Order: sequence, then C-alpha cells, then structure tokens
Amino acid sequence: KVTAVIMVGGPTKGTRFRPLSFNTPKPLFPLAGQPMVQHPIFACRRIPNLAQVFLIGFYDEREFALYVSSISNELKVPVRYLKEDKPYGSAGGLYYFRDLIMEDNPTDIFLLNCDVCCNFPLLEMLEAHKRYGGMGTMLVVKVSAESANEFGELVADPVTNELLHYTEKPETFVSDLINCGVYVFTPEIFTAIHEVMIHREDRANPHRLPSIDALGHLTIRANPPRDFVRLDQDILSPLAGKKQLYTYETMDFWEQIKTPGMSLKCSALYLAQFRHTSPYVLACGDGAKSAKIVGDVYIHPSAKVHPTAKIGPNVSVSANVRVGAGVRLISCIILDGVELQENAVVMDSIIGWKSSLGKWARVQGDGDYNSKLGITILGEAVTVEDEVVVVNSIVLPNKTLNVSVQDEIIL
Ligand code: GDD
Repeated sequence: KVTAVIMVGGPTKGTRFRPLSFNTPKPLFPLAGQPMVQHPIFACRRIPNLAQVFLIGFYDEREFALYVSSISNELKVPVRYLKEDKPYGSAGGLYYFRDLIMEDNPTDIFLLNCDVCCNFPLLEMLEAHKRYGGMGTMLVVKVSAESANEFGELVADPVTNELLHYTEKPETFVSDLINCGVYVFTPEIFTAIHEVMIHREDRANPHRLPSIDALGHLTIRANPPRDFVRLDQDILSPLAGKKQLYTYETMDFWEQIKTPGMSLKCSALYLAQFRHTSPYVLACGDGAKSAKIVGDVYIHPSAKVHPTAKIGPNVSVSANVRVGAGVRLISCIILDGVELQENAVVMDSIIGWKSSLGKWARVQGDGDYNSKLGITILGEAVTVEDEVVVVNSIVLPNKTLNVSVQDEIIL
C-alpha cells in the first residue's frame, strides 16, 4: 500500500497571497475551476494501492471539513485533514502524525507541497524510487539561473541520479536544478526525522544562544524547538551524498504558487492540461445559445453566461457568476457570485467573491504575472461602478470604486 500526504500550511503562511487568502485558505483557492489542492489529490488517483490521502496543516478543521468529505466521495479513497496544534515544519508535521500515516502499513509515502503546479508524475517517480532503492526520491526541475535562488538548489549524480548536494535558497548560485516539493519516501523517513530531533536535544547548548554580529551587537537567538523540523534544511541537506536520496527530473511544466499573479499563470497551465486529460471539463461553446469561447475556458455549471459574451483564452468562471451581454473576459479568474454587467471587460485579473462590475467597466492588468502589480486583483465584495477603469491595482475587500485607478493599492 501507498499513502499520500499533502502539506497545506496554515493561516500564518501564504501571506503573499493576500487579499485572496483573507477568507479562503490558499489551498482551496480555485485554479482552472478546482481547488489548488485538488490537482495533487487527483494526481494520486494514478497510484495503485493508494490507501489514504492526508492533508496536514494548521488551519482550523472547519475550513476543510466540507471539502475533505466531498473529495473523499469523489476519489473513493479516504481523504482526511489532520490539524497540527502549532506549525511543526514540513518534516515535523509529517512526524507528528506518523502513527496515523502508518495505519495501513504503507511501503511508500508520497509527500507533496500543496502550492506547486505541475503534472505530478507520481507513478514514474515511484518506479524510479523502487529502482534506486534509497530512502527517498524527489522531483527536480531545471529553472533559469536567475530564479533558482528562490528554491532549494541541488546537485545530482548524472549517472545514478543520487542527490549529492542540497542547499535551501542559497545566496550564491549552486545549480539551476531545483527541488519541486514533491517526494516519495520509505517509512525510514520517520527515523531520519527522529534522529534530527534527538541530535538537537543532545547538543550541549541551552535553548537560547547569545551571539555577537560583525557590528558588535549582541543578539539572543532562540534555537528551533525540538519538534520543529524542516524537510529541506534539516533532512535533505545533511542526507545528501549518503546514498539515501535520489532525484527524478521532470521535463514538463512546473511552477510555484506563492502570489495571486502565479495563480493566474497556473490556472492557464492546468486548463491546458485538462485539454489533454479531461477535455469534457472545458467549456466548448457550441450551440446557438452559448457564449463564444476562445481557447481553454472553465465555466461552472451554475454560472449564467449571456450568449453574446466572448470568453477566453485562460478564463475560469466559478459558481453562481452572472455574465451580462457583450462582456469580454481574457486571462482571468472570476470567483463565486460575481456579477459582470453589460459590456464589462476583464483582462489579466482576478475578481473576488461577490464583487460586481458595472456596465462598460474595465478591469485589467498588463499580464506580468511575476510583478506585484502586473495583474489587477479585486478582493471580496468590491464594486466597480459603470464605466470605471481599474488597471494594475490591488483592491482590498468591500471597497467601491467610482473613479478610475491605475498602479494603486486601495486599502
Ligand atoms: N502542515 C504544515 N506545517 N505545512 C507546512 C509547514 C508546517 O509547519 N511549513 C510549511 N508547510 C507547507 C507549505 O504550505 C508548503 O506546502 C510546503 O510545506 C513547503 O513550504 P515551506 O517550508 O514554506 O517552503 P517553500 O515553499 O518556501 O519552499 C519549499 O518548496 C519549494 C518548491 O515549491 C522548499 O522545499 C524548496 O526547496 C522547494 O524548491
């Protein structure tokens, strides 16, 4: 049997995702019409003998209760949310729930970060992992040398694929091969985490370490608590080069979803994937009564779209949205309950839950997904009045805009 664990973090993480994470936990934010965490969960369907899927985080249980029960039914495999009483770190959280995770005596455990977007080649990883015979295999990908320092950089043996060297977000360049946040481990991982904890306890130093920096300032640095263990720094770095960890390189798409801009990009990637894996999920736009659809578009069945609207490419329209006559939508995410009145235009933007755009209103970004104001984001229940134009701006929840704005953060 195989068990999968998805690390979902908690409300104190994902702060770069504001204002979209104010009321909805980031893992439930929709990409291509499905909650972010559903993409890795569905990828687990390909694993033979999948016993259970656990989501581990420190969000309140209530936030995930409805979701896990509906997704368990759909997946026909139990999906459970396990809440840490405090953040234990990416490896500490796994260790904390070791008894539950080992309930079905799995031979292998997948560990996935919830905020990565890729095609999760889990079967291929599992096969490679069995071949290598190590304790763990991690998915890796080549990125541009300029962006590599945002991730864990690593060196792998070109022949055996063994992980030889690992540094988390290094200041000086190590390698353009990086850690994708997708792993498969044997249960020995729990021993490895336990050893880190014991080692911490053994260290003679007391809990607080005074140190003096180059300017002569005395600082008292608290040691991390014994049970807080990070997978990257505390496990991967020390175990590199010890014939225990191996790499599996993906040549397919991979992105990390830390900002709203990236969620727009990843929504496009997942829509494009649906085109191959489940085209029936996408809107097709045939029939005299349906809107004109361009490229990959998702429209929730409960949304009401006027036949004269033109939608796509890369558009995702959530439940109970109303799209009026002549509306034009390009590269955007329209969240639940939004109303778009006649001839409104949305481009390179995310429109928050229950917001409304008046007639001829225009909300747009310049499509630079990596810069802070490269897209426009309207928080929950924002009203944009008729003919108002909003460009490259972030608008916090419950605001009403009656004048046009550009490059602004409206608090
Ligand atoms: N349950 C739980 N508890 N989850 C946590 C905790 C915790 O205490 N801390 C982090 N996470 C979750 C996050 O929600 C995320 O899904 C994952 O663990 C990793 O988060 P971070 O530890 O904050 O690392 P990161 O996202 O900046 O970078 C990691 O992932 C990159 C790939 O996306 C590193 O492993 C990098 O090396 C890697 O490139």
